[in-house]
Formats: sequence, C-alpha cells, structure tokens
Amino acid sequence: MSGTALIGTDTEKAASLLRSGACVAIPTETVYGLAANACDPAAVGSIFEIKNRPFFDPLIVHIGCVDQVAQLAVSFPEKAKKLTEKFWPGPLTIILPKSELVPDIVSAGLFTVGIRMPDHDLTLKLLQSLEFPLAAPSANPFGYVSPTTAQHVADQLGNKIEYILDGGPCRVGLESTIVSFESEYPVILRLGGISMEEIEEVLGKVLVSTGDSSQPTAPGMLSSHYATRKKLLFGQLDDRITQYAGLNVGVLALSDLRGQNGIILSKKRDLNEAAQNLFASMRMMDNADYDLILAEEMPDSGLGRAINDRLRRAAH
Ligand code: TXA
Ligand code: MG
Repeated sequence: MSGTALIGTDTEKAASLLRSGACVAIPTETVYGLAANACDPAAVGSIFEIKNRPFFDPLIVHIGCVDQVAQLAVSFPEKAKKLTEKFWPGPLTIILPKSELVPDIVSAGLFTVGIRMPDHDLTLKLLQSLEFPLAAPSANPFGYVSPTTAQHVADQLGNKIEYILDGGPCRVGLESTIVSFESEYPVILRLGGISMEEIEEVLGKVLVSTGDSSQPTAPGMLSSHYATRKKLLFGQLDDRITQYAGLNVGVLALSDLRGQNGIILSKKRDLNEAAQNLFASMRMMDNADYDLILAEEMPDSGLGRAINDRLRRAAH
C-alpha cells in the first residue's frame, strides 16, 4: 500500500485490520512490534516483506493469556512455567517445542516456537480481544535499530502499513530476554529486558549462548545487527576520544561526555534508565551531523550486559 500510516490508540481498529490479514504496529514495554495473525501464513509473510527480513529469522508469538501456551507448544516444562509465573507479562520470551498450530513461516522451519506475553495495557487489551495470537518482530527495517516510539515506526515503515497503535515511549527499551527450554538445561539465547541475575534467581545458574552466529537457531543474534547507518565504535571512551580528536565525533556515554558533544544515557548511572534511552539516542546520533559515533561500554551487570550486547553488534 502507499500513503502514510495513521497513528492512534484505537484497539478496535487495530483488531479489525489484523482480522483482515493486515500488519499493524503495536507498542510493547520492550520495543514496538510489527504484528500479524500468527496462524495466517500469508499475513505473516507480509511482515517479512515489509521489514525486508530473511525467512530464516523466526518470529516471536505474542499472547494475552498464559493458557495459549498449551495451544502453541507441545510441552511446557516446570522451569519454563516458573519463569513465566515470575516474569509474565513482561520482557521474557520462552522457546518451546511447537505445536501444529504454528505455521513454518513463523518458526523459520524450526521445531520450536518463541512465546511471550508483553506487559503493555493497550497491547494486552488487543491480544485479549483477538481470536488468534500475534507474530511480531521489532518494527524496524531488518538490521536497523529497534523503534521505541510510534514516531520511530512511522519514520521508517509509515508508507508500508496502515496503522500504528500508539502506546507511548517503551518503558524497558531493550528487546525481551530469550530463554530456550529445548534441552534439559535452560539457555539464555538473547540478553534483554530481564537481567541474567533475575533469571538466575529463579532457575539457578544458566548457560548464556548469545555468541556471534549465522545459525538459523539464533539468527537475531547475527553479529551485525541493531546497526546505525553511521559508523559506530564501541569500548572504553578515553583512548578513543584521543585517537579521533580530529573528527567531528559524537559520544554516547553512560553519565559523562568527557567534554565532547553527544548524549548521556543516565546522569545517575541507572542502567535501566540507560536501556530505556539507548535506541532513541542511537537514532538521534545517527541523524545528527557527526562523522563517527563513539559508544561507551557499560558496567557488566544488570541491563548493562544487554546494552553492551546491542552496542557490540551495532559496532560490528
Ligand atoms: O521484545 C521483543 O522480543 C520484541 C517485541 C516486539 O516483542 N520482539 C523482537 O522480535 O525482538 P525480533 O524478531 O526482533 O527478534 C526475534 C528473535 C529472532 O531473531 C531469534 O533470535 C529469536 O527471537 N527467536 C524467535 N523464535 C525462535 C526460535 N524458535 N528459536 C530460537 N530463537 C528464536
Ligand atoms: Mg529485531
């Protein structure tokens, strides 16, 4: 379609578009998603087309009620249940063996499916009013920074979709943490809005396997992802600032710009606040007239780990 997407808060309009097989952008607490009926392969196909996303990259299925897990997955292990009891609705995606209800295009041909219940009033209301769950990747062109406001979505996909459900700026600002229950031992496949420490409080020690990969089992974990168009370098700031002294450098810092131009993610060094500001700040710096972005490495704890993961991939 052509034209400009409407931005609004009308969940009934969103529902009727989704029932007709169209894609609608939806707010969540993590990032905005580009949603379609997860049980309709043609509707899901248009998500891939709009995002220019490769078919080997599976989608997360969003639900409004925990009973839907039993329809989408053939088993729901105790440990996975414990985790969802603690963190749903919220920024947690679980990977389980999929049922026949999940079309191959959603799981990219894998035998598993990613499921999550997002923590956002408007979207929960929408999900609970629908007769089907919603497949939704982040609502950005493949490989670019994820959107955390309705305007971010409009800027990049506004001429390709009809409606953007506006739920305000995203509260968490980083995608969900993905935990796989494919084998006996749970594995964190993507660091995200729930910290590793919080997961381990429930499950005990877990493996983290988010390494660089071009494997279809963790394609969102491609080493080059979440990227700005402008060159971004990631690491300790001080030596980099000296090294690039001749250039018009923009600094993305946790709390101290070292006298440079740029953006501070959290004056009080609160890593949750830094996560909330991260993607919008990366976009602003990408659109400003810097030659180069220097992003500071965060402390390796709490959401700092997930922020570092995104910045490292953006720098690749
Ligand atoms: O917070 C989020 O998770 C956001 C919001 C919209 O819910 N969604 C999101 O979707 O980040 P997306 O498509 O950008 O990332 C989905 C990633 C895939 O790239 C892949 O790494 C992983 O989820 N994934 C999905 N299904 C999987 C499966 N069956 N096995 C392994 N990984 C899977
Ligand atoms: Mg994404």
